[in-house]
Amino acid sequence: MEARQQRIIATLLLLTATLFVTAAPAVAHLHPVILLPGYSCSQFDARLTDEYEPPTPACGVRKQGPGWFRLWENYTELQEDPTLLPCYQDQLRLVYDHTAGDYRNVPGVETRVVSFGTTRSFRFDDPVQKNVCMARLVEALEGVGYKEGSNLFGAPYDFRYAPAAPGVAARAFAGFREMNGNKPVIIVTHSFGGDYAMEFLNQSPLPWRRRYVKHFVMLCGSTGGSPVIMQAVASTMGSPPPPTTLRGSVLSLGNRSFEIIPFFLPSPKVFGDTPLVITRAKNYSAENMPEFLATVGFSDEEIARYRTRALPLTLNFRAPLVPMTCISGIGVPTIYRLVYWDGNFTDKPQVVNGDGDGVINVENAMALERAVGGDPAQPYFKSVLMPNTTHNGMISDDSTLRAVVNEILKANQATF
Ligand SMILES: *[C@@H]1O[C@H](CO)[C@@H](O)[C@H](O)[C@H]1NC(C)=O
Ligand SMILES: *[C@@H]1O[C@H](CO)[C@@H](O)[C@H](O)[C@H]1NC(C)=O
Ligand SMILES: *[C@@H]1O[C@H](CO)[C@@H](O)[C@H](O)[C@H]1NC(C)=O
Ligand SMILES: *[C@@H]1O[C@H](CO)[C@@H](O)[C@H](O)[C@H]1NC(C)=O
Ligand SMILES: *[C@@H]1O[C@H](CO)[C@@H](O)[C@H](O)[C@H]1NC(C)=O
Repeated sequence: MEARQQRIIATLLLLTATLFVTAAPAVAHLHPVILLPGYSCSQFDARLTDEYEPPTPACGVRKQGPGWFRLWENYTELQEDPTLLPCYQDQLRLVYDHTAGDYRNVPGVETRVVSFGTTRSFRFDDPVQKNVCMARLVEALEGVGYKEGSNLFGAPYDFRYAPAAPGVAARAFAGFREMNGNKPVIIVTHSFGGDYAMEFLNQSPLPWRRRYVKHFVMLCGSTGGSPVIMQAVASTMGSPPPPTTLRGSVLSLGNRSFEIIPFFLPSPKVFGDTPLVITRAKNYSAENMPEFLATVGFSDEEIARYRTRALPLTLNFRAPLVPMTCISGIGVPTIYRLVYWDGNFTDKPQVVNGDGDGVINVENAMALERAVGGDPAQPYFKSVLMPNTTHNGMISDDSTLRAVVNEILKANQATF
């Protein structure tokens, strides 16, 4: 994370702190809740500098413009002017900086997350995002006395990057902590937000975690990656036509440039040597992922990065040793195996479904439970499997939301 970005985040925190002083006092008995939404659910603004080399001259026009603009996602603007799409796609890419040994934005593109500290960043103008991000959960929490800016906060994060920036996240959490009279917080995550929070916690000192985290409620945790990502990376093999929507390019995982892709690949710790991609000639499992990546066109360097940056995390995940409740959906067909019989990875695979929430496999939920079972240092762990609950239904169906809010209220009252 660049120093400039850190400064921006620090400024946002100060702003949030200032707002807090004028906000109504929090409902006394409620512990503050911090929400971390799933992949694609945080908005960010961008600003172009002279260093930016636009793919077409029109994409550089904003150089003379007002500075910051909404890069992910301004749905309305893209509806009005579809010619902006290639510009947005280009500006959303990441590049690997060999000198720094880290990922960064395309040169000349600066980004910042929107409304850090609040849940406003999860509220998109794109109607599709409504039930995908946490807008409905925010409403449900407000219904039981939570109040935005008082005891309800959001921790949007740049989901293109993998959880490798504990310094930044620590600042954010430090800010929340001070704002709430050091009252321990309840962290509530959905989907990939859970992995992000878990890595953040695991990289923070244990006494700090124990002091400041009351409970960690993980909804649809994706710990251990997903076979469906193998399809996403396979489909970008060769020179496919670029996605026709910005959402499409983010969901096809940013044209492979996002740091997060290797982190999402199925972990050998969860999926072992089970064949996940099947061809007539050869099968691929989580354990021979490097071979699979080579087959679908990853360079040696990209594969080396998979081994050094992502694999150590996905192989060694553990619960963060704070009281934890995991709620996962099951009973919904979820992609488990992909069959490319002729070995043509640009073709549509035949899919073999397993159990899960339609996105995350039941194996993910079981894996964390297993990891915790062998860990005497984990103070409290509860796993709830909700039948017939989809990945997005978990944070949008009325009855499911009631159950989720109930678990959050229980975490408030718990004495451990
Ligand atoms: C999106 O773009 C429109 C112009 O089409 C602008 O009016 C609006 O403010 C932008 N939204 C955000 C959130 O920046
Ligand atoms: C990445 O996107 C660019 C521009 O949209 C396109 O030309 C290129 O083929 C894409 N590459 C991959 C591997 O998808
Ligand atoms: C691939 O895996 C499938 C399913 O487990 C198995 O039936 C098949 O024999 C394997 N093929 C090869 C080439 O190992
Ligand atoms: C692979 O599948 C794609 C999409 O169906 C097709 O266009 C292409 O010709 C196939 N390639 C080979 C080598 O069969
Ligand atoms: C799940 O949904 C199916 C179809 O709607 C229904 O038949 C089944 O009873 C439901 N199962 C549970 C446990 O709710």
